[in-house]
Amino acid sequence: MKTHARTHLLALAVACSMAACSQSPAPPAPPAPPAPPPAPTAPPPPPPPAAVQLQEAAATLAPTQGQTAAGNMKLWSFDNGVHIVGTITGVKAGDTHAFHVHETGDCSAPDGTSAGPHFNPGDHVHGQPDQGEHHLGDMPNQVADDSGTLKIDVTIAGATLRDGGPNDLIGRAFIVHAQPDDYTSQPSGNAGARIACGVIQ
Ligand code: CU
Ligand code: ZN
Repeated sequence: MKTHARTHLLALAVACSMAACSQSPAPPAPPAPPAPPPAPTAPPPPPPPAAVQLQEAAATLAPTQGQTAAGNMKLWSFDNGVHIVGTITGVKAGDTHAFHVHETGDCSAPDGTSAGPHFNPGDHVHGQPDQGEHHLGDMPNQVADDSGTLKIDVTIAGATLRDGGPNDLIGRAFIVHAQPDDYTSQPSGNAGARIACGVIQ
């Protein structure tokens, strides 16, 4: 009861200050009901679908005959594609190199030709990833940093690992080329010699 009385006094003081108290005190107002929740605006967007990580793989790239480029890749498959991260050292600072997944996981030929053509399970023409028709194994050109290292961070949408399906990258090969890919010339972008090769496993 005592607390109740104090609350009313306080309410009176607030009412006074707001109304400048020109009149005699108004009867105490009943306590205000709780404020209604704000009117809903647009509903919040749904969270992005969480990418589910499925499988891992790796590749060690060795130089082809007379070359110096070499490195390692790690691969992680998700429900929407394969993420590829790694480094290639031993190239010239500032140079641009084509980087592809080729069809055959065989790096035994001294010039890397045993890896075959670009991995192309969808029977497409060669092109630029994310810019229309292209092979599944087509990836963006890679530019060497000041230390002559290619820092690879690429995602191939639609590729898989270890599912045995047509887009499975296991048993394919990474190839680094001497030249950039022009994304146009058929069947392989006029990217020149194969300077490093590594089987995805
Ligand atoms: Cu290639
Ligand atoms: Zn291609």
